[in-house]
Amino acid sequence: MIDTGVITTGLAASHYLDAADQAAHVRTAEPTAAVSTRLVHARFLVNGEAHELDLDPRVTLLDALREHLRMTGTKKGCDRGQCGACTVLVNGRRVNSCLSLAISHDGDEVITIEGLGAPEAMHPVQRAFVQHDAYQCGYCTPGQVCSAVGMLAEAHAGAASAVTPDVRVRGPAQLTDDEIRERMSGNLCRCGAYVNIVGAIRSVARS
Ligand code: FES
Ligand code: FES
Repeated sequence: MIDTGVITTGLAASHYLDAADQAAHVRTAEPTAAVSTRLVHARFLVNGEAHELDLDPRVTLLDALREHLRMTGTKKGCDRGQCGACTVLVNGRRVNSCLSLAISHDGDEVITIEGLGAPEAMHPVQRAFVQHDAYQCGYCTPGQVCSAVGMLAEAHAGAASAVTPDVRVRGPAQLTDDEIRERMSGNLCRCGAYVNIVGAIRSVARS
């Protein structure tokens, strides 16, 4: 038969020890360092428009865009650099905005999906995504489109990828489907629209 008295005594003892440990910890702990709330002034050119913000230095570029500038076209997927939903162009290069502190972009030019085009005047990559049905829920699409725009520029400038057959060849890279898949591998699509995404990018690359 189980001795409930032993059990309850044991629980009480362990509780007592936890409390004693805590008390000792409180006696010996250093005072908690005050969290800095100093704001940092930063200037950005976002989609051709100048913005100035006073930001907590810990704010990411993604949160500055979405929460401070109310540009919600850029999406937050994983918030840890794994999905590419937050991709924007900074000074022409694609960046995972969730991994980048906003104040580190003081003076930079940022292009988001809102700056690439509009329904009545779409960017060629946006138009290709529509024509090739390259999305389902659309959550990853702003990041896919921004990444594709950056990737096409990189390839045109001759940047090699991990599947480039001969990195000594100069000039624009030939964007085979393998090249497109490799160069877009940082952008995940949970709906699995990859076949049509590659088709859309291929059509722009060859036009
Ligand atoms: S939200 Fe930035 S990589 Fe996923
Ligand atoms: S279209 Fe739904 S996650 Fe890509």
